[in-house]
This record gives sequence, C-alpha cells and structure tokens, in this order.
Amino acid sequence: MAAITQTKRTMARPNQSSARDAVPLSREQLVDFLNEDLAREYQAIISYVVYSQVLKGAQYMAIAEELENHAKEELAHALVIAKQIDYLGGKPTVTPKPVKTSEDPEEMLRFDLDNEKETVRNYRDRVRQCEALGEHAMAEHIRQILVNEQDHEIDLAAALGRSVAEAISSLKTMIPPTPHG
Ligand SMILES: [Fe+2]
Ligand SMILES: [Fe+2]
Repeated sequence: MAAITQTKRTMARPNQSSARDAVPLSREQLVDFLNEDLAREYQAIISYVVYSQVLKGAQYMAIAEELENHAKEELAHALVIAKQIDYLGGKPTVTPKPVKTSEDPEEMLRFDLDNEKETVRNYRDRVRQCEALGEHAMAEHIRQILVNEQDHEIDLAAALGRSVAEAISSLKTMIPPTPHG
C-alpha cells in the first residue's frame, strides 16, 4: 500500500478537481471560514453604502443605483451567514475586512470587482465544505448567495466596460452543482 503523506492540518481547500479529494474540515473550522465570509459581507456593505453615494458623474448614475441595491443584498447575505454561524454554535464576528477607498471612480469599482471575485472564490469552497460535512441546507443557502455574488461581479465588470460575455464565461463553471440524492 502506498504511503499516505497527507498532512494532518491540511485545510479543505478544494482545487479544480473534486471535493471528494478534500480533507474534511471540522465544524469549528467551518465556523471560522464562515466568519471570514461574514467579515467580507460587512466589508461589502460598507463599501457599497459609501461608493453608491460618492460616485459622481452622469456616466455613473446607473451604476450608483445598482451599488445601492448591492448594499441591501450584501446585508441580506450577512444575515444568512450569521444565522449559519449561530446554528453551528459559533459566535458571529463584529469586525469587517478593511475597506479600501479611492477618489477615482474607476478604481473604486475595481476594488469592488476584486472583492466580489474573492467572495465568489470563497463561497465556491464553502458550498463544497458544507456538502462534505453533510450540511446540505447550508450549502443550498450559500449556493443562492453565490448566484447573487456572481450577478454583482457581472454588474461591476459591465460598469468597468469589460466584456460581460467574458465575465460570464469565466463564471460559468463556478457554481458547484447540486449533488444527486
Ligand atoms: Fe454578499
Ligand atoms: Fe457581492
């Protein structure tokens, strides 16, 4: 039998292949990850509240309105994530990730786009981790948030004039499918 060289503390950080290869994490580790997600949601709420009000110029009017909607959606996500943390017996964090600011509207939007990409990456992992722990309802909640975050990413890519088709094609394979059974 081949020697198993898996390290004990390896986090479940699934790469492209499959969640089946991932080392299952504990519920405590999931709480820690969810608290990171919650801190990112707070960061998103703050940046969208601020950016939606300070973005000036006719060309940004529609996107400023869109960012206001994002702020509300991020709050809804924060509530869902905090609920999952509480359900797992954890304590929801009260500290956001740092929020970057800029005088340059395009740079602001780029910060948002980068954050959304990071968020999408993390929630993809979280869905798989929840499934691995048998927390299928939680995985479903996060999958729904993920769909929403991907819309945010597309909105921002469009606002920055990047090809929406490009953004969509890079996102296409991003939502882990609902497993059968
Ligand atoms: Fe969010
Ligand atoms: Fe978002």
